[in-house]
Amino acid sequence: MTGNTSDKPLIVGLAGFGTVGGGLARLVVENADMIRRRVGREILIKRVLVRDMDKARNVALPDGAQLTTDAAALADDPEIDVLVELIGGIKQARALIERALDHGKHVVTANKALLAEEGPALFVRAERAGRILRYEAGVAGAIPIVQTLKESLTGNHVLSLMGILNGTSNYILSEMAANGMDFDVALQQAQELGYAEADPTLDIDGHDAAHKLILLIRLAYGAHYPYKTLSVRGIRGLTCKDINFAKEFGYTIKLIAQVREIRESAQSREGGIPCLEAGVFPALVRNSYLLASVGGVFNAVRIEADAAGLLFFHGRGAGDLPTAGAVLADLLAVARDERPNNTGFQGEDLPLAVIVPPEEWRSCCYARLTVQDRPGVLRDIAGCMAADGVSVASMLQKSDDGRGLVPLVFMTHQTTAGAMDHALRRMADAGLLKEPAVCYRVL
Ligand code: NAP
Ligand code: HSE
Repeated sequence: MTGNTSDKPLIVGLAGFGTVGGGLARLVVENADMIRRRVGREILIKRVLVRDMDKARNVALPDGAQLTTDAAALADDPEIDVLVELIGGIKQARALIERALDHGKHVVTANKALLAEEGPALFVRAERAGRILRYEAGVAGAIPIVQTLKESLTGNHVLSLMGILNGTSNYILSEMAANGMDFDVALQQAQELGYAEADPTLDIDGHDAAHKLILLIRLAYGAHYPYKTLSVRGIRGLTCKDINFAKEFGYTIKLIAQVREIRESAQSREGGIPCLEAGVFPALVRNSYLLASVGGVFNAVRIEADAAGLLFFHGRGAGDLPTAGAVLADLLAVARDERPNNTGFQGEDLPLAVIVPPEEWRSCCYARLTVQDRPGVLRDIAGCMAADGVSVASMLQKSDDGRGLVPLVFMTHQTTAGAMDHALRRMADAGLLKEPAVCYRVL
């Protein structure tokens, strides 16, 4: 069923009245005329679920809406057409969504953690209930990337997808690079601006970007990539020292989420199931690449597709209105009575992707090694790399730090992550490294 079948208002139960929920309440009121013109009906928020009824709010409740702390008041209310889940977290959010689906409601959510970790069961449940489960705001904030993959690029094979998917990490890295700001100060600012997750370790340890990548993989390849098997490394411990060395080589450090289909893989050819190289990691991005200039809270997604070629999307990745705009777009889609098309692929459940182990990934690498300033040390280090077939592309040595130690910074030619790790272990075992090596991929 497509097209408008009703001009009665779409009644919403809004779970969560924080950064995104508050933004949505504002947009529903401020954009009421535009909404009516686009879908021919009103969107009315009937109930708003919060934890604390007495908390001061900086957004007014829409006319007619009631605050509640009772989740069942949203999920069970027969008048409510759609549950908008913006409370975050896994357990309570999942229970609420399941209950709402079981009561015949459509669901709109921005909860990428839930959909990445427990999505398969929820998609099956929504499918069986014939209900819509939409989540545009779950990935890359204001960038309409879910819709793009689910609808606009369906005539293409996605060959690779690479993005900056966490606004908080990008904000921190940008502030450190531009203003030499301390990591913790930048994180605190990102929290105050409403960008960070309730648990900001999800942002800085790469898990939020990883959650989003899992959703994009599902949309691009029609396969589940189990979250726990994804290789994830965040920006914790990243220092201005490496940001500045990267700058000297002409690079910017970014937290990158990447997936690439290995089309020559036998499993892929035979079973039609995609064989994927995927992970989240900090990387040095060449300054001439568009991704290097994505600053602050902005996100970006670069897609290479067989028919379309290269595409690049850029926009605000977090914050109240950018995210709420994406939630509202999903609500409008529900208001138009669109048919459920939750995963973008046919069938109740999706197959598991074939996974390339991270040690087989190929890239150039950046390595900063702290060694003793003595004759022959460079030869010994180069010998360890040569023994694992790692070839040096360029190198930088800074003067003695006063403790008789020097940083040696290498850029390698293409190698595997496994060979690079092995070479670094070889150096450590030989007693050459006076501090733990720092190593990042180079794009
Ligand atoms: P937030 O500011 O912390 O707001 C959470 C809201 O949910 C608060 O109103 C809170 O109530 C309510 N809440 C939390 N747990 C609850 C529970 N167990 N029962 C009832 N109410 C509960 O969070 P947010 O930043 O808006 O994020 C919401 C969701 O959107 C998360 O899934 C997040 O990952 C996602 N998201 C956020 C952004 C962003 O830029 N912030 C962007 C994209 C996606 P009280 O107000 O009473 O405490
Ligand atoms: N904490 C997330 C970020 C919010 O910083 O990108 C947007 O999903």
